[in-house]
Amino acid sequence: MNLLENATPAQREAIMHQDGPLMILAGAGSGKTLAVTARIARLIQNAVPPYNILAITFTNKTAGEMKERIEALVGRTRAWISTFHSMCARILRAHADRLGFTSDFTMYDSADTRACIKSLMEEMGLDSASFRPNAFAEIISAAKRGMVTPDDYAACARGPLQRALAKLYPRYEETLHSNNCMDFNDLLLMCYRLLRENPDVLQKYAERFKYISVDEFQDTNSIQYLLARILACKHKNICVVGDPDQTIYTWRGATLQNIFDFEKDFPGAKVIRLEQNFRSTKKILRAASELIRHNIERKEKELVTDNPEGDEIAVMESSDEQEEARNVARFIGECVSDGYAHHDIAVLYRTNAQSRPLEEVMLHHNIPYALVGAVAFYRRKEIKDILAYLRLAVNPGDAVSFARAVNAPPRGIGKVTLARISDVASREGATMLDVVAGKSKESPLSNRQAQSMGKFCGIIEAIRAMHGRP
Ligand SMILES: Nc1ncnc2c1ncn2[C@@H]1O[C@H](COP(=O)(O)OP(=O)(O)OP(=O)(O)O)[C@@H](O)[C@H]1O
Ligand SMILES: [Mg+2]
Repeated sequence: MNLLENATPAQREAIMHQDGPLMILAGAGSGKTLAVTARIARLIQNAVPPYNILAITFTNKTAGEMKERIEALVGRTRAWISTFHSMCARILRAHADRLGFTSDFTMYDSADTRACIKSLMEEMGLDSASFRPNAFAEIISAAKRGMVTPDDYAACARGPLQRALAKLYPRYEETLHSNNCMDFNDLLLMCYRLLRENPDVLQKYAERFKYISVDEFQDTNSIQYLLARILACKHKNICVVGDPDQTIYTWRGATLQNIFDFEKDFPGAKVIRLEQNFRSTKKILRAASELIRHNIERKEKELVTDNPEGDEIAVMESSDEQEEARNVARFIGECVSDGYAHHDIAVLYRTNAQSRPLEEVMLHHNIPYALVGAVAFYRRKEIKDILAYLRLAVNPGDAVSFARAVNAPPRGIGKVTLARISDVASREGATMLDVVAGKSKESPLSNRQAQSMGKFCGIIEAIRAMHGRP
């Protein structure tokens, strides 16, 4: 299959680029992802073993799509195509012992983190009216993203809130460690630490990944950049692809700084600009560039397209979110009677909370829809409950999953009992699961509780017995 058939000259240059650092700077819909995908396929066609290729994407969904596209071109491949987080988890599982973890460590998502912080706050007697657990979780997360350690934080803490946090932050870190757990930030931080502190491990991966590419580079944060840079230290064949005008994750710590750093860290990097848009009409492009023109920190670029002029952009004003949802539904109805299929239509919203009125109206009018956003699924209560059981079976030290699973469904283990179980566990150096299984010297349970815990432990045992079976 000819990868270059429809490519523009600039795309062709990107696809053909083999060795040395490369930065593709381009606008929305200009074929950036297509170019990196074709470049990887070409490397494989040029006899580069897929084993030596690492491609980082921004979401698991795009990783899957990129893998599919590459496999459609060159057949099944062992190249690593994943997000930073999945890549780090994979590396960490292989070398967790170097950091004092075991390879079956549990990952905490933001809800687990909040639950953990909340229970630590209760232990420390911080009342949740004046100190909000969510705010604490957010500040700790920001500190970790900025690589601010508990000691650094304590050294600068001023005022009651920061001083309380300075005490909580190290306790949180200890708790994660003693429960054999990592939060999302840890995946990146720990992986970076692993590579920095263990030259043999770094050597293994830096040697292995001869060709590295990072899509949506404008949205990588500084720790992600450091990871990409350290992995590229040996071969320096790193290709980053991004649109400086599309940084949507500034609040997550992504900064344009990465783009400037890349030029500094990889001097002589080739820069390719893709300036032709394939996705939008002329009208939409003009409107977008009118808006983008007002961005303060930007690298100048102008997008053009051969696509038709297109329809006028319409602005619709609604008095509240219900009316807005009804208007959207009516518009969808019109499109469908004009001959469009439901899967031709997308509705974008700014935050997840806004999906609700839209979903209600879709259900009401029998409009079939699919909600995109993989995380939402894992935030559902029943899914999180089941995951808590699975995690506990694999990692009995996971206190947050224990607290969740033990009362899903309710088994009469209240807050007070839970705290007692936790006390006995830490005194005896046992897990909470051991304590309720009657394996500790002391038992904080009543007869009735002991009985219901017997059943609970039976379930965990049964799951454990299934582990490793096909
Ligand atoms: N040379 C080309 N000829 C025709 N279509 C193209 C060409 N290059 C890209 N496209 C099409 O343009 C669309 C956008 O491509 P792609 O997703 O790779 O762009 P992108 O720059 O990564 O977009 P985004 O800014 O959303 O990340 C795709 O449908 C792709 O198939
Ligand atoms: Mg893209």
